Amino acid sequence: MFLLWLFGSVMSVFHLSSGESVPVHTYSSGDIIIGGLFPMHAKTNKSTAGEWISCREYDLQMFLRTHVMIYAIREINQRTQRVLPNITLGYDIYDTCSDVSVAIRATLQLLNNPQSCLLPARIHSALPEPQIKAVIGERSSETSIAVARVLALTSVAQISYGSTSEVLSRKLKFPTFLRTIPSDEYQTKAIVELVKRFNWKSVAVVGSDDEYGKYGSDRLVDHFRKLEICIEFTEILPSHFSMNDSDTFNCLANLSKSINKSTAEAIILFTRQSNVEIIIERAIERKFNRTWIASDAWSTSKKISEMQNLKLAGKVFGFISKRNEVPGFKDYILSLLSRTTNATPEEYPTQYPLCTNQSEESKENNCQLTNHQDNSNHCLDLRCLANYIDQDESYNIYLAVQVIVEALRRLFKCENQQCERRNTSFTAAELLMEIQKVNFTVNSTHIYFNDKGDPYLGYDILYWNTSEPTQHAHITTIGEYSPNKEITLSNEFDENTNVTIYNCYKTCEPGQQLKHKEKNNMCCKICFPCAEGEFSPGGGECFIKGSHSRMARVL
Ligand SMILES: *[C@@H]1O[C@H](CO)[C@@H](O)[C@H](O)[C@H]1NC(C)=O
Ligand SMILES: *[C@@H]1O[C@H](CO)[C@@H](O)[C@H](O)[C@H]1NC(C)=O
Ligand SMILES: *[C@@H]1O[C@H](CO)[C@@H](O)[C@H](O)[C@H]1NC(C)=O
Ligand SMILES: *[C@@H]1O[C@H](CO)[C@@H](O)[C@H](O)[C@H]1NC(C)=O
Repeated sequence: MFLLWLFGSVMSVFHLSSGESVPVHTYSSGDIIIGGLFPMHAKTNKSTAGEWISCREYDLQMFLRTHVMIYAIREINQRTQRVLPNITLGYDIYDTCSDVSVAIRATLQLLNNPQSCLLPARIHSALPEPQIKAVIGERSSETSIAVARVLALTSVAQISYGSTSEVLSRKLKFPTFLRTIPSDEYQTKAIVELVKRFNWKSVAVVGSDDEYGKYGSDRLVDHFRKLEICIEFTEILPSHFSMNDSDTFNCLANLSKSINKSTAEAIILFTRQSNVEIIIERAIERKFNRTWIASDAWSTSKKISEMQNLKLAGKVFGFISKRNEVPGFKDYILSLLSRTTNATPEEYPTQYPLCTNQSEESKENNCQLTNHQDNSNHCLDLRCLANYIDQDESYNIYLAVQVIVEALRRLFKCENQQCERRNTSFTAAELLMEIQKVNFTVNSTHIYFNDKGDPYLGYDILYWNTSEPTQHAHITTIGEYSPNKEITLSNEFDENTNVTIYNCYKTCEPGQQLKHKEKNNMCCKICFPCAEGEFSPGGGECFIKGSHSRMARVL
């Protein structure tokens, strides 16, 4: 609560009981109001009847991302060289608590015109023009899909910074949806390109039963089939894993069994971060030591990359939409923090208490979530907050604000510090059309949308380096992928040293040989008994009995 009001916005958080609160809402007035939808809490508590009760697990990183939107809008308003002369932007930001029904409620609030009810009495009359003309959000595809259906009613443009599902490209279904993050269509292609580049012969695909994990894993399977790369197994997990649920328990047991038996070189986990946490924990416990490919949902996860003994799970390659620093944002956060020196732990709205004993020597380079005195709890040093600023979603949020500003400039025909159009009343549909047509450069990012509302932005390829003594993985960028172009990799990874013993490697018992399964030439060979009259000393080849000549080898 403390940080929220301190950051100067009218964010309101009411704590119900320990760890529970109602969704956050923050508003700032202006001539043109931009809506925002952010999952500032990670979970909700619901009653058995499904009605919403409260939100849980305040998310520090989402809190910072929300501030990127606020920062970008303030910065536009304060620039001395006005981008939008005589116009002030405002915002109306809602917390969705990562819940579709809370998000729909927030969307209805955003559209609610104070002068009239949302719905006219007669079905044929037009809906009242909303005050909000564009909305930034939501983060997850699942939620964005639900929100997009509501926003389309009044032609309000929606620009997501995190929803990557391919289904959102379908403009007949989601006519007002755009995004500043590339569609999974490109991410799955990028993953397949990496597998090809590393000469990996076989992979396993793990997805989940939701818009993100299902479309992603389906598309991966399609791409691999076309390239004749073996998919040893595909597993679709429930959308939400939870450790005290018997379905999860069974699923995890099956998955462990499949991985144990598998000779797949890489295991692709295309599902949400909270699911991956549970899988990787298990992989550490079982010392799986495999190669994992992280989809953007978890490829930069602090929680996973800081797990103890991560090395035992193996190595991780990942993909994240092209990263960039939000210009000036870090300084902005640090300057706000310099005013916050005597926070009390009870007022801090995260799952981590503030470190009470902030020693002088705790410097920026020592900003892991450090163990508290008793070694079991973690605490957060406020001065470390800036380390939680990411460079992917934050930058996408920044881009979304710039896109809306550019579209407004097009709408009002602004040039230099003059706008031709004086009448600043306009409809949401007019703004939407201008947003679809933007084509400009923000800092070094050239952005424009195709007719599906998707930008042509690339990916960074990441590697989690666990060889350092810190125990934690250090996430490094090792290459990049641009849509429909080749992958480029740093030299160190460009040589063929990325194959482990698993790459379809297998030896057979005596009396058996390695052969392709019938009609499935692209998968790894498996052990079959030798034909009659043949023998095998073990390994994988059969010989004709009585002959020791390699010429007599039966292939
Ligand atoms: C801004 O508004 C003032 C008065 O309201 C007007 O004189 C001026 O021309 C406007 N500037 C622009 C660029 O529209
Ligand atoms: C975007 O603008 C550039 C020139 O700046 C032009 O070459 C390109 O064709 C434009 N792209 C689209 C999709 O309009
Ligand atoms: C682009 O961003 C960098 C920091 O990320 C900043 O130093 C530079 O001034 C920015 N350029 C523009 C044109 O804003
Ligand atoms: C994991 O396997 C690699 C070979 O693929 C090996 O070099 C490495 O030592 C193993 N790591 C552990 C922790 O067992």
